[in-house]
Amino acid sequence: MNQKNQITRKNFIKTTGAMAGGTILGSPFVSKAAGIFREKKKLALVGTGVRGVSMFGRNLRANYGDTVDLVSICDINPGRVAYAREFIGGDLTAYTDLDEMLRTEKPDTLIVTSRDDVHHEHIITGMKHGCDIITEKPLTIDEHKAQEIMEAEKKYGRNVIVTFNYRYPPYRAKVKELIMDGWIGDVKNVELHWHISHSHLMRYMQRWHGHRRFGGSLWVHKSTHHFDMVNWFINSDPVEVYANSELERFGKNGPFRGKNCRNCAFTDQCPYYWDITQDEHHNNLYTKNEHYDGYVRDNCVFRETIDIFSKHSALVKYANGAQLNYSLTADTEHEGYWLAFNGTQGRLEVRAGGWPRRNYEEIHFMPNRRYSGRQEEQTIRVDHGSGGHWGGDPIMNDQLFKDPNRPDPLKQQAGVRDGVMSIIIGVAARKSTDSGLPVRIEDLVDLKPMPNRV
Ligand SMILES: NC(=O)c1ccc[n+]([C@@H]2O[C@H](COP(=O)([O-])OP(=O)(O)OC[C@H]3O[C@@H](n4cnc5c(N)ncnc54)[C@H](O)[C@@H]3O)[C@@H](O)[C@H]2O)c1
Repeated sequence: MNQKNQITRKNFIKTTGAMAGGTILGSPFVSKAAGIFREKKKLALVGTGVRGVSMFGRNLRANYGDTVDLVSICDINPGRVAYAREFIGGDLTAYTDLDEMLRTEKPDTLIVTSRDDVHHEHIITGMKHGCDIITEKPLTIDEHKAQEIMEAEKKYGRNVIVTFNYRYPPYRAKVKELIMDGWIGDVKNVELHWHISHSHLMRYMQRWHGHRRFGGSLWVHKSTHHFDMVNWFINSDPVEVYANSELERFGKNGPFRGKNCRNCAFTDQCPYYWDITQDEHHNNLYTKNEHYDGYVRDNCVFRETIDIFSKHSALVKYANGAQLNYSLTADTEHEGYWLAFNGTQGRLEVRAGGWPRRNYEEIHFMPNRRYSGRQEEQTIRVDHGSGGHWGGDPIMNDQLFKDPNRPDPLKQQAGVRDGVMSIIIGVAARKSTDSGLPVRIEDLVDLKPMPNRV
């Protein structure tokens, strides 16, 4: 075995002699949760940034050790992957070469939490090695890479899951259920207006997210969540997108700029000054390892190369005749959103976010009295679950790692087609902004939009 790209293999074998030959990893075990015999899945992860090490690193070890085994991690940055190994704990092996990790460790499933622009490489490489894939959103950042993933999925026949955790918060599941149960009839129009606060936007502007070539712009990186939710709620595919977007305040519009926050002459004046060295975890993950790959985590938010947008508006036509009016206003004091559906038999509204944070959301139902059997307006209150993203993350993780055969009546688990159909709206919106013209989905990828998804 080539030792060049592998960190701590020797140590790993020494400390986990019993497991090194796979005798435990591949063997049946008694599931405490279900009381039945099942294979324990062997997992590996690529991309040991803040998401990878927490959501799928520590979290898997802390909460899913009975059902899955995270055996190995990989990152292009040797310093970061070494720190990640320590942070996650356990007897992980760590690599800087994905092929080598997959060849050596032979995991059942590869978890992809790397930078958005390399997801497609990692998804395809994983499938080539016979792995199923669990990938973070966005599936990828442009139409060519999306096409490559679709072709590889056909070729290798592996299962690919996109972790759209925004589908899982209990109140969103309730909205989906109400629409599926016909409360508002056929959906004709959707209003979704999402706000990201200054400090949240700042975190995007500081990192690779500020460059289209890495994150596809927020049209893809962030809005993929929102477009996927709408596609899923109304169970239809987009056919055409018309959009406009602009960058204000950040990037070249800024009043001054420095190399990065740590060594900037304007720290007293800059409303976005952040001292990363005061944050131990970020410092260990990023600052101490930037000499390996030049990934600077506290970049200047006014650097001239930023080419994404802070203000986004789109009109999306759907194959079932519905229209979506969408905006992402990524530079306000407020963080939250407005979501509404107008159907033939009524209207649903959800307004979420704001301060102070609530531990529940309210769904307002307004009947269209002429056509609906229901006469009364109603407010349906749904409590958030515990855990990240309004309680959605643990529900999704249980389905992924504890109970993969759990019934899925709301079709919350997403695959490649869902991933493509969500990013492609953002890709079309980016192109529409550039050209000033509407963009048809069928001109971008080999997928026929379906009026009603099967
Ligand atoms: N679903 C959610 O709510 C949610 C939340 C946060 C992040 N994410 C997603 O998780 C992913 C990671 O986000 P993050 O905030 O941890 O980013 P990050 O920049 O902290 O981590 C990305 C990691 O990928 C590594 N990487 C880059 N190129 C690589 C390559 N060729 N091979 C191996 N590793 C490579 C980097 O070195 C870095 O460690 C992104 O796709 C992001 O969209 C999803």
